Amino acid sequence: MATWSKASLIVAAAVVLVGLSSASGAHGGRRGRSFVSSYGEPCKEMRLYLHDIIYDYSNSTSNSTSAAATKPTALSTAVSRSGYFFGEVVVFNDPVTEGKALPPALEETAVRAQGLYLYDKKEAPNAWFAFSIVFNSTGRHGTLNLMGADLMSEKTRDVSVVGGTGDFFMARGVATLRTDEASSDLSYFRLQMDIKLYECYA
Ligand SMILES: *[C@@H]1O[C@H](CO)[C@@H](O)[C@H](O)[C@H]1NC(C)=O
Ligand SMILES: *[C@@H]1O[C@H](CO)[C@@H](O)[C@H](O)[C@H]1NC(C)=O
Ligand SMILES: *[C@@H]1O[C@H](CO)[C@@H](O)[C@H](O)[C@H]1NC(C)=O
Repeated sequence: MATWSKASLIVAAAVVLVGLSSASGAHGGRRGRSFVSSYGEPCKEMRLYLHDIIYDYSNSTSNSTSAAATKPTALSTAVSRSGYFFGEVVVFNDPVTEGKALPPALEETAVRAQGLYLYDKKEAPNAWFAFSIVFNSTGRHGTLNLMGADLMSEKTRDVSVVGGTGDFFMARGVATLRTDEASSDLSYFRLQMDIKLYECYA
């Protein structure tokens, strides 16, 4: 029984690989690459920094990269510490860099993080993220899509890389988030993202 299921798994894996490599032909430019799935060792790793500057009515609009899209909810007004509104949704289009420094042109980096986070805890900041990292440089084109709970009381938090497009076609993995710097009012924070892909085309 054990031998049978092992053999059938190998056959199933081969069928999946054949299917995927023929599918890749339809996505031009990916010919010659092969699908790598290795859960022990990542097939691709990168460290990136996301810079989020929320418009708080005092910062200039040109150097704000995110904005609250909701008014305080009745529940948040009743229970939340000020600034950490339960139900607050923030929409962002943030610069993403390889180093820690804020880029000079906040609106024009070749890598962007586009999406939203929402605060989901009554009395302390705690967030849930869903966003795409959009790559538009000569070296890398495409997107990685991330989502998951940002348990802000933890030093590091893992969110899922649920998929990708372009150079990251069908990618999957895990991104470990760490707050590298944050102002006390959270109007600016820099998030270190250690992205490890365990499924990629390499
Ligand atoms: C946003 O404005 C506040 C208030 O003027 C300031 O303290 C903060 O440093 C500014 N944040 C950024 C990232 O510019
Ligand atoms: C934000 O923009 C204003 C006006 O252009 C500028 O004075 C300020 O230094 C900028 N702040 C940051 C942190 O870039
Ligand atoms: C990608 O970069 C090119 C060249 O800098 C630019 O013309 C284009 O608008 C960018 N596309 C996106 C989606 O940002």
